[in-house]
Parts: sequence; C-alpha cells; structure tokens
Amino acid sequence: MKYDYLIVGAGLFGAVFAHEAKKKGKKCLVIDKRPHLGGNVYCEEVEGINVHKYGAHIFHTNDKAIWDYVNSFVEFNRYTNSPVANYQGELYNLPFNMNTFYQLWKVKTPDEAKSVIAEQVREVGVKNPKNLEEQALSLVGKDIYEKLIKGYTEKQWGRKAAELPAFIIKRLPLRFTFDNNYFYDKYQGIPVGGYNKLINGLLDGIETRLEVDFFKDKTELVAMADQVVFTGKIDEFYDYRYGKLEYRSLDFKHETLDMENYQGNAVVNYTASDIPYTRILEHKHFEFGTQKKTVITKEYPTEWSGNKEPYYPINDERNSEIYSKYKTLSEKDNIIFGGRLAEYKYYDMHQVIASALAKCKKIFNRD
Ligand code: FDA
Repeated sequence: MKYDYLIVGAGLFGAVFAHEAKKKGKKCLVIDKRPHLGGNVYCEEVEGINVHKYGAHIFHTNDKAIWDYVNSFVEFNRYTNSPVANYQGELYNLPFNMNTFYQLWKVKTPDEAKSVIAEQVREVGVKNPKNLEEQALSLVGKDIYEKLIKGYTEKQWGRKAAELPAFIIKRLPLRFTFDNNYFYDKYQGIPVGGYNKLINGLLDGIETRLEVDFFKDKTELVAMADQVVFTGKIDEFYDYRYGKLEYRSLDFKHETLDMENYQGNAVVNYTASDIPYTRILEHKHFEFGTQKKTVITKEYPTEWSGNKEPYYPINDERNSEIYSKYKTLSEKDNIIFGGRLAEYKYYDMHQVIASALAKCKKIFNRD
C-alpha cells in the first residue's frame, strides 16, 4: 500500500503532522520504535493514576489558538504548577516570591525582601560574572543561591556551578507578590484523563505501527510512502557522519506506595547536593486524584550515552556547529525534519505543536 506520508515518531510533532495531513485527505502511516504512542508525553496508568513516564509534563501557553487546538481533543483541568523546594528538610515555595522570602528571612513586605537581596548582592560584590556561580550570586545573593540554586543546578548539569558558563542563567526572576504559580502563561493545565487522550485524539483514524525502528527497515519503509516526516535524531539519520550530538539524560525511578498522599504536591525539588535526585513527582496531584495508593517518581540527572534516552540537547558551541552541518545537509533532502530530536532543540509542548502546525500550513497551503 502506498502512503502519502511515512511519519517516523508518534510524539507530539508526528501526531500533529499526521492529524493535519489527514484533514487534507492525505494517507499517513505513523511508526514508533517504542511500544506506545505519544513519545515523551506518554502516561502509563498505575493504580488508576496517570504516571508521566518521561518526567512531569505540564501544559502551558500564552497562545489562545494553541490552547483551543489542544482543548478540541481533550478537556484540560485547572492544575497550576507551584513546586516546593526541600533544602535539608526546610521547605520553600517556588518560584522565588514573597512566600519564599518570608520562609528564608521572615520578611513580610516587598521592600524588606528587596533590601535583604540588595544587601546580599552587595556583600558578594561580583561585577563581571565569569561563571554560573558568580552570575547567580550577583543576581540574587548568597541565601537564595546556596539553598535553592547551587545543588540543584550542579546535579542537573553534573558539574560544579563555578565550572559552568554564566550564560546558562540569563536572569533569575524574583516575584515580589505572594504568588506560587510557576508559569507566567495565561493558559495552563493537564489533560483530564492524561496525555494519551490528546495523542489518541490526534491520531484517531490514522494507521500506526509500534516497535518499528526506522533504521532497521529503512529501505522498505521509505518505499512505502511518497514522503518521509522524520522526528528522530538527525545525527542518527545521517549515520553520525559529522559526529554525535550530545544530550543530558535522566533516570526515572517509579515507586507505588501504599498510602494516599506522600508529599502533598505534584512536584518537590530537592536542592541540596547530598541528595542524588533533583525532584520527586507525585503523579496523582496533577489530576487531583483520590486513589487509595500513590505513585512517586524520583528524577536522577545522568550523563547521556548511546543506550540512554536523549532528553536535553547541550546547545554549546561544539554541538551547535555539528547540528548546523546536519541541517545544511537536510535542506538538500526531500525529507521533512521536525520535533526536538530532528531539530536538536528543547521544545515545550506548546512550541512543538506550533512548529508542526506552521510546517503543515506551509506544506498543505502550497498543495
Ligand atoms: P518525542 O521525543 O516526544 O517524540 C519522538 C518520537 O520519535 C519518540 O516516540 C521516539 O521513540 C520516536 N523515534 C525516534 N527515533 C525513531 C526511530 N528510529 N524509529 C521509530 N521511532 C523513532 N514540555 C512542556 O510544555 N511542559 C513540561 O512540563 C515539559 N516537561 C518535560 C520534562 C522532561 C524531562 C522533558 C525531557 C521534556 C519536557 N517537556 C515539557 C517537553 C516535551 O516533552 C516535548 O515538547 C515533546 O515531547 C516533543 O515532542 P516530539 O514529537 O518532538 O518528540
């Protein structure tokens, strides 16, 4: 059977592309090497709880068109991301706001908080920050840096903050209101019933095949369609001819606990360096679950190697140079590359949806 499109990858990019192509009367086959659809937004149901298998996924956007688009497939709940930080057993609200400043210094007004921060920044006395540590200290002073930034950042990157470049932290927003809402976006929530509902809605009526690795049967698969949409790793597509693009990875340790409520919040960050994980997720709280049991996930940042999942691209000079070579090569091919792995770019969900829709508009409007 001949398809118009062979779509490699059933993540958000692939699923949105397939949906839009189908609307234009195109015949698509979507393949994925994993045993499930959805890519990194996939949820596994355990004890009636939707477990975010590949880390916490909170949908947020300022774009009404994208919000209406996702809501046309599934209703979203009113979940608001308001993580808590645990530093050596002390709890602090995030993002840094008046609640955090009260917890740190017992200050009760914005003016009091501003003067403590200004005093600490003065004490540090860094004028031209040469690394991430100096940059953060020059922006927020010693207490916020040492209790809430240092350990977490060092675990995330696997390197000392003093060895990391300053540009990683451009600004550190300080909020002088009692507002624990992590995001600034107008729209935010979790799909009622989990992300699989969104993916199943997008892929409704489209042929999908799981546990099919494009590279194992490339010739036969390519021959099945007029065009290929590729959302896997671009360096792998070109046989790593310019070298491997690097990533940071994560290990997720999921546990089912025989209790109703483990930590009272969906996300608790562990900001001290002596605890190896960066976060504990408690999945039921994403959907206000009332199940008898609970499922938690500890998130351990790790080095990436071939057999680990590539999660965060390392967009430093070396990798950016390599990527631009692959990009130039890809522009000569009749293949559509899209999504976080093919574009070697960190995309939030609303951004990857917007990028798939923009690509579709370009392609289908010229047909
Ligand atoms: P995605 O990786 O989802 O899909 C690509 C698919 O291609 C995969 O299913 C893969 O198996 C398949 N594939 C690759 N190679 C293949 C091959 N050779 N053959 C067959 N199939 C192949 N965003 C947000 O808005 N809010 C949030 O809270 C978070 N949280 C978050 C946490 C963590 C830990 C990460 C890493 C990311 C987030 N994100 C996020 C980002 C979000 O995960 C991201 O925007 C989308 O998953 C990107 O969708 P893609 O389709 O690009 O990739």
